[in-house]
Amino acid sequence: MHVFVTGASGWIGSAVTAELLAAGHEVTGLARSAESAAAISAAGAAAHRGSLDDLESLRAGARAADAVIHLGFKHDFSDMPGAWRTERAVVETFLSALEGSDRPFLLASGVAGLTPGRAVTERDANPSHGPDGMRGGAENLALEHADRGVRSVSLRFAPTVHGEGDRGFVATLAGVARSTGVAGYVGDGSARWPAVHRLDAAHLVRLALEGAPAGTVVHAVAEEGIATRQIAEALGRGLDLPTRSIDPADVDGHFGWIGRFFALDIPASSALTRDLLGWEPTHAGLLGDLAAGYYTDAE
Ligand SMILES: NC(=O)c1ccc[n+]([C@@H]2O[C@H](COP(=O)([O-])OP(=O)(O)OC[C@H]3O[C@@H](n4cnc5c(N)ncnc54)[C@H](OP(=O)(O)O)[C@@H]3O)[C@@H](O)[C@H]2O)c1
Repeated sequence: MHVFVTGASGWIGSAVTAELLAAGHEVTGLARSAESAAAISAAGAAAHRGSLDDLESLRAGARAADAVIHLGFKHDFSDMPGAWRTERAVVETFLSALEGSDRPFLLASGVAGLTPGRAVTERDANPSHGPDGMRGGAENLALEHADRGVRSVSLRFAPTVHGEGDRGFVATLAGVARSTGVAGYVGDGSARWPAVHRLDAAHLVRLALEGAPAGTVVHAVAEEGIATRQIAEALGRGLDLPTRSIDPADVDGHFGWIGRFFALDIPASSALTRDLLGWEPTHAGLLGDLAAGYYTDAE
């Protein structure tokens, strides 16, 4: 298949690009800068210059491809409403370009906050609808197009898609530990985070592209829930810092913006995904990657 990938230069998208190319697919990646275009070309894919704000560039990319995988996102945590507005407009654009074609449209989503108090499964609907919802309500918008001639698939990633070179949430927590001198966890540290290795996630995205029916939700989750206290302890060991509980009232002050995420208990299951697509994660778990020093060795 010829696949148009947004975010092809990003953390997950670059692994997905490599996975697709290795399996014999053709990839065109959206590139908003010369640097991103160079990275995409170096990976062996074609670069399509444009941006998430240039909807015509997205329409052209979708029209020329057999499938679209949307992994681009504005990770500006100071302006999440802006990122969500963009997400909504981008997904609307792709859906209108693909409607009636039966072509696959895979989009990134997350597992956080969907079913407070219990592990979220693929059958649990996302409560966010409409443009003002989380991530612009884009997941539901896409899934609603399953009966309008789009093979839409939601890719719900664990909040930590980890591996060597990760600059995401766990790397941010390592930065907080370095600057405060403490590897902290919130309260009793029993809140759990699911996790998936980046290469396992990329493999799952390919399986979903090739075989998931219209309207499927897949969970890129290898580990259902790791206690945040264990994550903090591993950071403390790697950085040679003490590990200690942070009072929930002091979370913002201690951790900054990442604190409210680290306080969340958000276990997630992937049993249905494994059954449907035969996906079996084979790479290291999060604590293994922490023990390998990927988050704590000197930069
Ligand atoms: N990583 C995780 O742990 C995780 C967990 C749950 C969900 N997700 C979701 O999965 C998706 C991929 O995440 P990621 O970790 O791979 O993100 P990332 O490393 O931050 O990559 C984001 C990608 O989006 C591109 N991008 C950003 N703004 C753009 C713009 N205005 N125009 C065009 N491209 C733009 C970036 O291009 P440049 O290279 O040019 O910057 C990059 O390729 C996102 O939707 C994310 O929210 C990720």
